[in-house]
Amino acid sequence: MRVMIFGASGLLGQALMREWSGDEVVGLSSRDVDIRDKNRVSEKVQSVSPGWIVLAAAYTDVDGCESNQDRALAVNRDGAVNVAEAAKGIGAKLLFLSSDYVFNGRKTSPYEIDDARNPLGVYGRSKSEAEERLQQLLPNCCIARTSWLFGTGGKCFPDTILKLGATRPRLDVVIDQHGCPTYSVDLAGAIIRLCRQDARGIVHVTNAGSCTWFEFAQGIVREAGLTTQVRPISTQQLPRPARRPAYSVLSPTSLNRLGITMPGWQDALARYLKQRKS
Ligand SMILES: NC(=O)c1ccc[n+]([C@@H]2O[C@H](COP(=O)([O-])OP(=O)(O)OC[C@H]3O[C@@H](n4cnc5c(N)ncnc54)[C@H](OP(=O)(O)O)[C@@H]3O)[C@@H](O)[C@H]2O)c1
Repeated sequence: MRVMIFGASGLLGQALMREWSGDEVVGLSSRDVDIRDKNRVSEKVQSVSPGWIVLAAAYTDVDGCESNQDRALAVNRDGAVNVAEAAKGIGAKLLFLSSDYVFNGRKTSPYEIDDARNPLGVYGRSKSEAEERLQQLLPNCCIARTSWLFGTGGKCFPDTILKLGATRPRLDVVIDQHGCPTYSVDLAGAIIRLCRQDARGIVHVTNAGSCTWFEFAQGIVREAGLTTQVRPISTQQLPRPARRPAYSVLSPTSLNRLGITMPGWQDALARYLKQRKS
């Protein structure tokens, strides 16, 4: 099988490039092809002629999306449509990466794949509208929603906590947002299996278990052996440009139905810290 990965230089993309073996994999960054350029996307997809396309490219700065709405929609929604049209043109299968931020966070039990989308911010809206367009364009495509991604090779929450924790005695972290941390290596492994199984429709893919950002930070500090004190604060105490869902835990039911189970986030965190050290 030949696979084409858009977003190969990102956090997830790098893990996909490392983890994917046994198939021919072509990885692209924005310097190779800007997904906003419909003609270039089409040319590139035709020349590589993959069986599967994984679309991990996105404008992922959640706060930046609020002040750059045009860019958010052009990359995350229209760029995704460009890739889907090119995939359709050559009969390639598509797996699109989406987000827990398509939900408004008002639920108090894990989100299932058929729960209504209702994003709070521009980033979530761009992903939500991309999902809708892709489902119309390529009804058999696979939409893998993930959340709170961390891994080596880029900015992520554990990396920030470790860097700040090395120099500050105390860190204030929000306690009223709940989600599922997800290790790029585990997500990459699940995506490879989904492609090999010809998965279709929406699937929720995160590490098992859930926590608040505060609990996640406590776990990072503890596991890294730091003495930094982590103090809980509310979202209101830390105003940011984009509103975030208070609860965006994704249910593993859709993934488990496909015979895939994910390790717990604490186990994933321990492996990430080892990988980061080495
Ligand atoms: N990070 C999270 O917490 C999170 C949570 C839920 C869902 N997701 C989704 O998971 C996927 C992977 O996220 P990530 O954290 O790995 O992203 P990331 O580290 O921010 O990487 C983004 C990737 O997209 C590429 N890209 C950006 N704009 C592009 C454009 N206009 N044309 C072509 N490529 C472009 C970047 O290329 P350059 O390196 O050349 O800029 C990079 O390879 C994304 O779809 C994201 O929305 C992420």
